[in-house]
Amino acid sequence: MTHTHQTSITTEQLAIFCKQKGFVFQSSELYGGLSGIFDYGPLGVNFKNNIKQQWWNTFVNNRPDIVGIDGAIVSHAKIWKASGHVDNFEDILLECKKCKQRFRGDHLVEDVLKITADGLKKDAINKLVQENSIKCPNCKGELADAKQFNLMFATNVGPVEGNTAYLRPETAQLIFTNFKLVVETARLKLPFGIAQQGKAFRNEISPRDFIFRCREFEQMEMEYFIHPLKANDCSFIADVMDYSLKVYSEEMQHKKNKEKEMTIKDTLKQNIIKTQWHGYWLAQFHQWFVGLGVNPEHLRIRQHVKDEKSHYALDTWDLEYHFPMGWKELQGFANRTDFDLHQHMKHSGKDLSIFDEETKQKVIPHVVAEPALGVERAMLVFLFDAYHDDKKRGNILLKLHPKLAPIKVGVFPLVNKLEEQTKEVYQLLKDDFVCQYDRSGSVGRRYARADEIGIPYCITFDFDSLEDKSVTVRDRDTTSQIRVKIDELYSILSRLVSCKVTFKELEKHYKKVVVKVNEK
Ligand code: GLY
Repeated sequence: MTHTHQTSITTEQLAIFCKQKGFVFQSSELYGGLSGIFDYGPLGVNFKNNIKQQWWNTFVNNRPDIVGIDGAIVSHAKIWKASGHVDNFEDILLECKKCKQRFRGDHLVEDVLKITADGLKKDAINKLVQENSIKCPNCKGELADAKQFNLMFATNVGPVEGNTAYLRPETAQLIFTNFKLVVETARLKLPFGIAQQGKAFRNEISPRDFIFRCREFEQMEMEYFIHPLKANDCSFIADVMDYSLKVYSEEMQHKKNKEKEMTIKDTLKQNIIKTQWHGYWLAQFHQWFVGLGVNPEHLRIRQHVKDEKSHYALDTWDLEYHFPMGWKELQGFANRTDFDLHQHMKHSGKDLSIFDEETKQKVIPHVVAEPALGVERAMLVFLFDAYHDDKKRGNILLKLHPKLAPIKVGVFPLVNKLEEQTKEVYQLLKDDFVCQYDRSGSVGRRYARADEIGIPYCITFDFDSLEDKSVTVRDRDTTSQIRVKIDELYSILSRLVSCKVTFKELEKHYKKVVVKVNEK
């Protein structure tokens, strides 16, 4: 097997770490907790915002062909009738006749039989339960026939009973329902994308694996619209042709082969990825994760097999990560064609076609790829890849990419007598960098605490600082230190945090500080 990645920590251990450090809390813990719903603590909120900001910068602000929207969460029931969610957005429920415990059918079958059963339909689940005499894992009681269970949360709008609306189960539909307004107001020309970040809600039968599968979660989605006949006409394809990633196609899965490292060029040539645009977007997002510190060995793209595809999808690929519980979806890339625009035209009676200037045709654009990512899954992936139990240092080292780190700079006085001057340095930085001022315990303890929450750079003001108007800057990942003039500190930190320079490069130009043995 090529997927040898072992995260150094289990999902349960990561959940404990996240609670201890103030990243993630079980929601409503005070009252016994609400399963599948989480709150984000002081570090978690910054971390989450940084991920969202990086995504928005890369895929909206830096792209002339993509614009953003922010749609409402409570949404008209007709949206979800048209989209197919009222009729199709279901999981299979298995209930124990004796203890009444309820299970998600495909997950129970997977756990007992150790097979992949994701998305299997009701009849297939019933067959597997009967053939293998699967019983309730809780009390060994008999399981009732499988039922369909709709995952949407319904609510009532206003005082009139029966005025049902739904909490959106995906942000995507708000892009489709606003499509015409966005195209007209932003004067978009094909091809273009519309992106959105925001909360979505799914009443999961059995949420599990910490924040991997939540009932309330946050999505970062983009719909990329093209002329229906131009799926193989991607003007950016040259940028990714030689990009290489692990590929696990439907055929490889049927043949029980392993995933294979391939370039985008080869996947297109061999018709594994069917369209240039699909290949382009898979490579772009893979690259985004790698650029923010994820080891490409822990990522692969996997094609959905026939029974697994959503009701709206022609072809779907997932970007997967090797989690402690195995390879799982991190981000989906469905080719939704014109399914949604078509459905909304039918149900609303409005024309959502647009004029394509290049071909002078009126067309209903196709969504050639819908990169759909859960913020919480991205958080997990960045945390798993960053987490190191550093035995030499004797503390956890959280190697988060500086752009994602919730706190960028630690500022410490060597001794508390130097607090006044250290606070002046802190004042210089705090408007533009999220800083943590720490005076408690030894400097060694402060470095260890900073390592554990991923602060990439720490500054110490010492007695020499009074004379040379300089401070030490310590690099989290190597523990190396350099001496920097306070006057230059702001500019150096700006370059470090935005990754315009590496600490290693700075070491060539600044005096290296010999670190005294064990600062603890
Ligand atoms: N819009 C696709 C999804 O929510 O997974």
